[in-house]
Amino acid sequence: MENNIFNVAVLGAGNIGSAVIARLMDLDKGIVGLNVKKVLVKDKDKKRDISSDIITNNFDDILNDDSINLVIEVLGGVDPGKEYISALLEKGKAVITANKDIIADAGVDLIQKAKENNACLYFEAAVAAGIPVLKPLIESLRGEELSKVLGIINGTSNYMLTAMEEGSTYEDALSTAQELGYAEPDPTNDVEGLDAKYKAVILSLLCFGVSPSSDELFTDGISGITKEDFEWAARLGKTIKLVAQIDNKNGFNARVHPVLIDTKHPLAAIRGALNAVVVEGENINQLVFSGPGAGAEPTASAIIGDVLSACHQLNSDQTNWYPLREFKGEMKSFEDVQSSMFIRLSVSDEPGVLAKISGTFGENNVSIESVIQEGRGDKAELVLVTHEAPEKDIKNSIDQISALDSVTTVTSTLRVYV
Ligand SMILES: NC(=O)c1ccc[n+]([C@@H]2O[C@H](COP(=O)([O-])OP(=O)(O)OC[C@H]3O[C@@H](n4cnc5c(N)ncnc54)[C@H](OP(=O)(O)O)[C@@H]3O)[C@@H](O)[C@H]2O)c1
Repeated sequence: MENNIFNVAVLGAGNIGSAVIARLMDLDKGIVGLNVKKVLVKDKDKKRDISSDIITNNFDDILNDDSINLVIEVLGGVDPGKEYISALLEKGKAVITANKDIIADAGVDLIQKAKENNACLYFEAAVAAGIPVLKPLIESLRGEELSKVLGIINGTSNYMLTAMEEGSTYEDALSTAQELGYAEPDPTNDVEGLDAKYKAVILSLLCFGVSPSSDELFTDGISGITKEDFEWAARLGKTIKLVAQIDNKNGFNARVHPVLIDTKHPLAAIRGALNAVVVEGENINQLVFSGPGAGAEPTASAIIGDVLSACHQLNSDQTNWYPLREFKGEMKSFEDVQSSMFIRLSVSDEPGVLAKISGTFGENNVSIESVIQEGRGDKAELVLVTHEAPEKDIKNSIDQISALDSVTTVTSTLRVYV
């Protein structure tokens, strides 16, 4: 780089790209000299607050410009960003991305490629956007054996669950989230837990040195949760959160699903579109990172932090990666994970129903912690909470109970965070 000026290219000038470009233009030159040399977009003719001189729709203008040392990828989706990042790293350029899909899909290979080419790759904004959590995990906590990571890492679903806790229906919570721009017109990735799943893969890699495959990472979303579930949660001193849980105690398992969680747990206090990551280990006990997990400004802030780290690295010729953690432990399949389950059933109010249900649990070695029966006749409702038992035994019990004549419906099942 000439006179310590870094030439930067930005791939994408949408929501995040335009906020990043504005921040780069504004950055205190006393910190570092940055020159935005090229911006890649799809539609060159779209009206933007960016000089047309630096706009291109040809990626090769960036790849083949040897004066560009640093590239920020904020295109979205896996293609063509993954190929672009790979090609840029092969050329030895520093790459910063906010793209969880690409890092979850190909993070290990891309980190390796960065190392082989003495390039660097940073992706702080890919998990929990504005919360600087990856750098502490990679650097500050590198000497710690972590045992567990929990995260509320999808702001849209947390916004909706908070609204439901306050009395909204699922449908109202979703339409308000869409009006406010938190939820996409097609909200599947957020409400079905897929966005959180990608981020959980990245956290698994950085905290435990393993990337669980899509099949290994059990995922369930919030679309089945009702106002009534929240009413029950409140009666039990709990609330409901969509939580990514990554555990390496007695085997490694990562999963994303809603949980009933005690209102005193730090994650219960994370409201609205905020995110939080809780990290546990023997020497640190518990650390809680929380803050804005989405939005153009917080995301741009994380990206600028990465840009400055990359500039420092380019100046010092160091590699940015502490060695990735080595996976210690064994993969545990979800069906062997111990869960405690809250189960709500509509039952016919006749003698012996409870005995049949508890007998079925007993045959599957699942013991019941508490039972509440409400209502009479056709409206009788039974709410059970089980002690911890392997997922497969709980599933078998529920399958068998739902086939009993006296059980009208299994209205809801929710795992209880223990
Ligand atoms: N939104 C958040 O709060 C948030 C938080 C953390 C991370 N992220 C991540 O940030 C990334 C960007 O998100 P965004 O909301 O800024 O997306 P966006 O608003 O849809 O912007 C995408 C930009 O990329 C350009 N683009 C897309 N495909 C292209 C292609 N094939 N060739 C050239 N240019 C292309 C588009 O060009 P045109 O302008 O010509 O259409 C647009 O400028 C995503 O990976 C997202 O997951 C977002």
